[in-house]
Amino acid sequence: MQADLFADDHRIALGPHACVLRGLALPWAEAILQALADIEAGAPPRQMITPGGFTMSAAITNCGALGWTTDRQGYRYRPDDPQNGQAWPPLPALFSRLAADAAARAGFDGFRPDACLINHYAPGARMSLHQDSNEQDFTAPIVSVSLGLPAVFLFGGLRRDDRTARVLLQHGDIAVWGGADRLRFHGVLPLADGRHPLVGRQRINLTLRQAGHQVK
Ligand code: SIN
Ligand code: FE2
Repeated sequence: MQADLFADDHRIALGPHACVLRGLALPWAEAILQALADIEAGAPPRQMITPGGFTMSAAITNCGALGWTTDRQGYRYRPDDPQNGQAWPPLPALFSRLAADAAARAGFDGFRPDACLINHYAPGARMSLHQDSNEQDFTAPIVSVSLGLPAVFLFGGLRRDDRTARVLLQHGDIAVWGGADRLRFHGVLPLADGRHPLVGRQRINLTLRQAGHQVK
């Protein structure tokens, strides 16, 4: 997926090791949505409870060897879906290829995700500021694919109260953050209502991560 017409001016820097790759996922959007339909037939998106007892507004599910979950006991990755005790559906090759390509374009060669968190946002749903810090190894970047309705992404600093930049993430955009930017706080403002021609009245975000230890 390297060496194509994806122009440099489609890369928006968010930090020394963070950027948005505008539209990089666009050619794959329909294939991704098809793969999601299969994944979600076995592992339907659901609203999980935070350790503090709040219901997340986004409905989430996972594919890959590990899946991110939350309940009253805490945030953690698990190899099985707590709803049915089955392994999460496998990570489609398309997802890992696209994530490795995006990571490489952002300066991270050899990215091999083992976890893909799938977030569904209905109008009004949001994601409050947080760090991605439940992974074993922070040397691998985070690769985040946006589909459907546009959302305002907040990209803060290493402390919760650092000021946040606002970036509109649109259908087909991929954000990557790693290295010095790996633990920056980030979140999503409440989704504005609308209807996307392909995805309908929602935004879908795929967050690809290396959650476990890298297998050499
Ligand atoms: C997340 O941080 O898990 C989601 C970010 C997004 O939806 O863009
Ligand atoms: Fe996150």
